[in-house]
Amino acid sequence: MVRKSMGLSVVIAGCALIFAGGLASAGEAPLAPVPAEYADKHMPAGGWTDAKAIEEGKKIYEGKAVNDVDCSACHGTDGKPKKKGARDLRDPKNASRYSDSYWFWRVSEGIPKTKMKANKAKLSEEQIWQVIAYQHMFSHDGKASEHSDYKP
Ligand code: HEC
Repeated sequence: MVRKSMGLSVVIAGCALIFAGGLASAGEAPLAPVPAEYADKHMPAGGWTDAKAIEEGKKIYEGKAVNDVDCSACHGTDGKPKKKGARDLRDPKNASRYSDSYWFWRVSEGIPKTKMKANKAKLSEEQIWQVIAYQHMFSHDGKASEHSDYKP
């Protein structure tokens, strides 16, 4: 009797797993969790809309400020990806999924096994926030705005 019900719970657990897998693949894959060391990284106050910071961010993004950093080489000067596989950040469906910590983490560390390389050795934290604030405008008609469309 005990044996029988154990077998049954294994079957139920198996079904639940398959069902959960189906759900996950129906939508976008969930984003990787932000590592603990990046969880406290947040956009400085006013940073999303700071005109000066965004101006710096644009230079960095376009490869005009920092040696060996040129986001536009892959993500495109106008945000339209140039390199295959580069994320289209004009699409609010992408940008609105990223928390500020997530965005900062990805730009800092890059994404393993992709062309997206780490930038933390080349950019200061301030510069990373600047380039993020600039990149954020691609999903907002080229206008600076708060990251209020972020949906966790
Ligand atoms: C050599 C090409 C290349 C350069 C240069 C590059 N990226 Fe990327 N980036 C990619 C690719 C490819 C992806 C998509 C990787 C994947 O998820 O498969 C990506 C993804 C991203 C993402 C989305 C992260 C995610 O988890 O979905 C952000 C944000 C980003 N890049 C920002 C930047 C910024 C800011 C710069 C400049 C400092 C930059 N990238 C430079 C190729 C590049």
